[in-house]
Amino acid sequence: MRRKVTKAIFPVAGLGTRFLPATKSVPKEIMTLVDRPLIQYAIDEARAAGIKEFIFVTSRGKGALEDYFDHNPVLESDLRKKGKTELLEILRGTDMESGAIAYIRQHKALGLGHAVWCARRLIANEPFAVILPDDVIAAEKPCLQQMVEAFEDIGENMVAAMEVPREQSSAYGMLDIGEENGPLVRVKGMVEKPAAEDSPSNLAVIGRYILTPKVLQNLNKLKSGSGGEIQLTDAIAEDIRQEREVYGYRFRGRRFDCGNKSGFLRATVAFGLARDDLRDDLMAYLRELQHVDRAAE
Ligand code: G1P
Repeated sequence: MRRKVTKAIFPVAGLGTRFLPATKSVPKEIMTLVDRPLIQYAIDEARAAGIKEFIFVTSRGKGALEDYFDHNPVLESDLRKKGKTELLEILRGTDMESGAIAYIRQHKALGLGHAVWCARRLIANEPFAVILPDDVIAAEKPCLQQMVEAFEDIGENMVAAMEVPREQSSAYGMLDIGEENGPLVRVKGMVEKPAAEDSPSNLAVIGRYILTPKVLQNLNKLKSGSGGEIQLTDAIAEDIRQEREVYGYRFRGRRFDCGNKSGFLRATVAFGLARDDLRDDLMAYLRELQHVDRAAE
């Protein structure tokens, strides 16, 4: 089995109903954290991990994503004429090598497992990564890079893992865990969105996966699971039942759930505070708010 991971799937077909009305005309993945769309964070993380082929599973109304990764000759020539080299440099991050990016339509919203399955012909027989752009992870070494390095050693299915309060189990794929070795945790089973009392542990799957092609074959046979959708979690759990290995990887970093409003706001503040050009001003404002709050008590 090859241990180099060069392909990543980005499931971006979701409707983003939690962010209506914004997502009526703007794909959720284009919503900006400070000044960069969510998808840019995911692409940068993939690049840092050595990914060369980027596969987007999209749906109706996601055209803005394709435009975002296209050249914009009018804008570029305008900036060049005005000598705005810094801005041109910023735009470079959106450049994709010709043929490096592919878009596949998921015609029906049948779930994350189905979205990944839609990309099966482009994956063929190689290990691949899956990145859910809603999960934004701030880390010194990007999360997927940490996982790709571990995968080079073990060559088995791997999911990013993080402890969550047990009462939040119904929002995650939850892991039934065995022995631990550094950041790696042997996974004995996986359940998608169980009730707190049924959750096998408090270790949750976060949206980064490195999977072996057998998982795609499992998806061929899957029927709908939790929420009536075809679940990626179930296809990975099937691999465990067939006695292949799956590991949870406790990544180093801070994860923000940008799939909900509160998580998005927190990420906005955290990423704003991490920026040299914004920190002082934002911090002063937060202090001011704290004062107002205290005075009101
Ligand atoms: C998906 C997965 C779930 C995982 C979560 C991480 O759920 O199905 O297993 O724990 O992402 O963010 P979603 O949040 O898309 O409902």
